[in-house]
Amino acid sequence: MHFTVAIDGPAAAGKGTISRAIAREFGFAHLDTGLLYRAVGLKGGDPVQAARSLSSDDLARDGLRSLAAGEAASRVAVLSDVRAALVDFQRDFARRDGGAVLDGRDIGTVICPEAEVKLFVTASAETRARRRWLEAGEDGSYKEVLAQVRARDARDSSRADAPLLAAPDAITLDTTEWTVTYAIEAAKEIIAARLATCA
Ligand code: C5P
Repeated sequence: MHFTVAIDGPAAAGKGTISRAIAREFGFAHLDTGLLYRAVGLKGGDPVQAARSLSSDDLARDGLRSLAAGEAASRVAVLSDVRAALVDFQRDFARRDGGAVLDGRDIGTVICPEAEVKLFVTASAETRARRRWLEAGEDGSYKEVLAQVRARDARDSSRADAPLLAAPDAITLDTTEWTVTYAIEAAKEIIAARLATCA
């Protein structure tokens, strides 16, 4: 069975948490596509070469989830050749047997426009910055994290190639006022309903 769930949205909106819960619930494989860009950003050297030669070791290295890696990722993610080098891997993953959930910025728009379910998970910049800041152990100032979140939103939304955008047929989940449990339940309901129509 092929069944792809595409989850897009800005940094720290809850995509990762929702994706992992969905993967567990429905037995789907999960790919956090941000890790691909983070690994390219951290590899150094020519980013296009780094993207073309990305290995499983690169994806397992320490520090991939740091704020600095997120910054580096969003800088290399503006390069069309970097994006192009990562497309096939993501598409193959999406169509694997047994179902897959991919989260990122352009999954529903560019990587898997044919995905069976497309969710756009978002929240206010203030809420997302607070989550990131708490996650990082209140390291640094909240204001700095908020500035970074806004800068990353601006870069991700304004780039020419595959900007952060909700697909026209995506369902938007605004998690600003939601608990994690509520957000997960909302996503599960949507997917269960769609799966029932494919059975
Ligand atoms: O989601 P995460 O914070 O790990 O993503 C890091 C950066 O990688 C994003 O800010 C974005 O610039 C880039 N990215 C992307 N397309 C994706 C996933 C991530 O451009 N599908």
